[in-house]
Amino acid sequence: MEQRNSFFNIPIDLVSPNKNIVPVTTSVNNLGALTVGGCSIDDLIQNYGSPLYILDELTLRNSCKAYKKSLEKYYPGESLPIYASKANSSLFMSWLIQSEGFGLDAVSKGELITALKGGVVRENIVFHGNNKSDEELIFAINNNIKIVIDNDYDLVRLKRYANELDKRLEVMIRFTPGIECHTHEYIKTGSVDSKFGFGLDNLDRVFSETADIKNINVVGVHAHIGSQIFELAPHHDLAKIMVNSILKAKDYGHEIKELNVGGGLGIRYTNEDDPPSIDQWVKTVSNSVVEECEKFNLDLPKLMCEPGRSIVSTAGITVYTIGSFKDVPGVRTYISVDGGMSDNPRPITYQSTYSACLVRDPHNKQDIKKYTVAGKHCESGDVLFKELEIGKCESGDLLCVFGTGAYNSSMSSNYNRIPRPAGLVVSNGSAELIQKRESSEDLLKFDVLPDRFIR
Ligand code: LLP
Repeated sequence: MEQRNSFFNIPIDLVSPNKNIVPVTTSVNNLGALTVGGCSIDDLIQNYGSPLYILDELTLRNSCKAYKKSLEKYYPGESLPIYASKANSSLFMSWLIQSEGFGLDAVSKGELITALKGGVVRENIVFHGNNKSDEELIFAINNNIKIVIDNDYDLVRLKRYANELDKRLEVMIRFTPGIECHTHEYIKTGSVDSKFGFGLDNLDRVFSETADIKNINVVGVHAHIGSQIFELAPHHDLAKIMVNSILKAKDYGHEIKELNVGGGLGIRYTNEDDPPSIDQWVKTVSNSVVEECEKFNLDLPKLMCEPGRSIVSTAGITVYTIGSFKDVPGVRTYISVDGGMSDNPRPITYQSTYSACLVRDPHNKQDIKKYTVAGKHCESGDVLFKELEIGKCESGDLLCVFGTGAYNSSMSSNYNRIPRPAGLVVSNGSAELIQKRESSEDLLKFDVLPDRFIR
């Protein structure tokens, strides 16, 4: 019989999970139904309810190992991969990435606390943000966390706090390299018109101003050009521009020891996507830094990179239960699931596309139909798939959406007061809870009805 879900026929790349659509442990059991991490999805839904976020531990670990190994292979100097925790921040993710020798990038006190409580060593945490609050800055300083200076507002306050708190701070300078890449407008960060970092034309001034500050030691430079990028050339160019910024810093007496190229490597959401492997990406960046340093006879800096999506996205799936159907004759058939834009805001925000299958019929063997998969939110744009081809389904069937590990849970909301799903990690046939399911009552926790309104 024809197998319509061609993504199941692509051999799984164990080494570079970002090249796959499905987690590396994805399989089908003797009932013909979907399993991940050796666990039957049907059983997981029975035990933990629906909808459900599931992370596959082996996929996560393989992704981390690919970055570590490739950095060791291609970069002769010291290196440290840093997980961009905005992709998916939790105690579990913090703990897992530190166990694989990763550092972590945080952009808020919440992400910092999650990292520290999750066991990430403070020396390996980098604190970003284009509008850090005073509380966040002081928290980072008191915890000896490396701060990335993004703008003059950061600079002025750090100068003051370093004096007041009598601390000697190690900081990095973030700049906008002026590199264009092909990705969604909202997730580009390196072009000249970006809210992040100093413009290249400001670098002289910033290096000059920071040279005279006794308590601030500029140890690194940072740039990030965007996310879900499939081209390698922008990262090759970025590495060169960054090495040149180290030379510039030298003119002002700074000895830059760390070069952080950000993240951005894309993943395969659908068959049409074809991202480079983690190995190719690391090789490109490493070679470019090494070549440029040799050219100028510079010592190799510690090379840091900040992958988020390519660590966690492919490891994650979301399982929904299909509920209502609506047939609009000659137009489309809607099926609605028990989640939507609150657990996955990416389709409505970026028109992102995903792959999915029925849990009981992963290979699409039965009577293929085209469905529009809608969420349950009170918004017409709450559509997860415009046209999904799967076997004929009915209310109560489970739908598994792949590639949801990054920027789903971390961008989730309670729109329409819908509680967030539970989260599990699966490995070797067992499943463990990493995020409790919210209840409708939980959502009242922060509501206050002032006394005068209570009779
Ligand atoms: N470093 C910095 C400074 C970043 O701003 C980002 C992502 C990363 C690293 C990690 O990039 P990645 O390896 O994940 O591409 N919500 C959007 C993505 C926003 C990315 C923001 N910054 C989405 O769902 O596509």
